[in-house]
Amino acid sequence: MNIKINTIYNSDCFKFFDKVKNKSVDLAIIDPPYNLKKGEWDTFKTEKKFLEFTYKWIDEVILKLKNNGSLYIFNTPYNSAFILQYLTEKRLIFQNWITWDKRDGLGSAKRKYSNGQETILFFTKGNKHIFNFEEIRTPYDSLERMKHATKKGILKNGKRWFPNPKGKLCGEIWHFSSERHKTKLNGRTQKMIHATPKPLDMIERIIKASSNEGDLVFDCFIGTGTTAVAAKKLKRNFIGCEINKDYVFYTKQALKKI
Ligand SMILES: C[S@@+](CC[C@H](N)C(=O)[O-])C[C@H]1O[C@@H](n2cnc3c(N)ncnc32)[C@H](O)[C@@H]1O
Repeated sequence: MNIKINTIYNSDCFKFFDKVKNKSVDLAIIDPPYNLKKGEWDTFKTEKKFLEFTYKWIDEVILKLKNNGSLYIFNTPYNSAFILQYLTEKRLIFQNWITWDKRDGLGSAKRKYSNGQETILFFTKGNKHIFNFEEIRTPYDSLERMKHATKKGILKNGKRWFPNPKGKLCGEIWHFSSERHKTKLNGRTQKMIHATPKPLDMIERIIKASSNEGDLVFDCFIGTGTTAVAAKKLKRNFIGCEINKDYVFYTKQALKKI
């Protein structure tokens, strides 16, 4: 590897890939451009050009993953349908289509349903991937029923089932308020350093589930550093790059605070 671990590089990802050793990454968390024109970095002349760009970085990321590595890719549901097809053509193994309910406030669509979700595709390179399901249990929905079940159990297929004190197994629908929504003041959206940062707690869930302490987490569109911050907090190693130097500066500041 020609780069230092636990460092974020100010670089175009296509130059950065050459510096990363093949089959060295345990977990890749990729939050790429979506072609939604959120900035210059998110603007492509045609959908074809956007997909060519997307497939190009996917090819590189696959090379970097270990044989038991895991890959998470964020995007719109529409784009994710193309990405899913491409990943299966590349013989990666489909695990989940995760729907992120962004809890983003009120929608404004009048000719279709209001959009409030993003997709997170979870693929692995092989079948021997890490999945720490105990680390990511979530609270049961019906607290009243669980209170009763904790005392007496619930009869299931002839056996008494007692709830797990850490909660239920994590499902595919994730509810995390977007940073945009969280930072609203009196209902008004505030200007943020980055247009589309991901919630830290959501990235932490991915890292806890799909890596162990000391593993290498990779993100080639690091933005303002959510993946790096979460990895450092959870004692994982990380490497990543970002084309915008201001975002790299901000990421380095955020990392220093941990
Ligand atoms: C969706 S944002 C990532 C946000 C990030 N997950 C966060 O929480 O802050 C995508 C990022 O990719 C960067 N980017 C776009 N094209 C790039 C390229 N070719 N190489 C490296 N970074 C790029 C953009 O500047 C942008 O910050």
